[in-house]
Amino acid sequence: MMRTFLFLIATVSLFAKVPLDGKKLYFVHCAGCHGPDGSGGTGANLLGKLTYPSHAKMVGVVKHGIPGTAMSAAPLTDVEVNKVVAHVMTLRQKAKR
Ligand code: HEC
Repeated sequence: MMRTFLFLIATVSLFAKVPLDGKKLYFVHCAGCHGPDGSGGTGANLLGKLTYPSHAKMVGVVKHGIPGTAMSAAPLTDVEVNKVVAHVMTLRQKAKR
């Protein structure tokens, strides 16, 4: 079900040549481990206290990964990394409410 959904997003965006926004990028590249809402799964919960809490630090983590863990460098451009991190920040804001 989830795989079909992700496949659809990927296919549609490929053919439409629409640049993916942060939310879609997150769904395709991060949600599988960090959960659709960021509350975690195989990956860390991104809504609570973080080791890399700022936008800049998170960009570093997403670009380079965390060596020795399942968190590997995302195959994204700098622009996409910025969008995806902005989305994680939005999820964190929502979780605080
Ligand atoms: C294959 C699973 C996997 C995927 C895919 C993945 N992560 Fe992670 N991520 C992890 C794991 C596991 C950790 C915790 C690593 C550790 O032990 O320090 C982590 C850690 C992180 C952290 C650090 C959390 C902190 O405490 O500061 C951030 C931020 C993060 N991931 C964001 C992302 C984003 C954004 C994406 C998508 C571009 C992504 N991750 C994709 C597994 C994943």
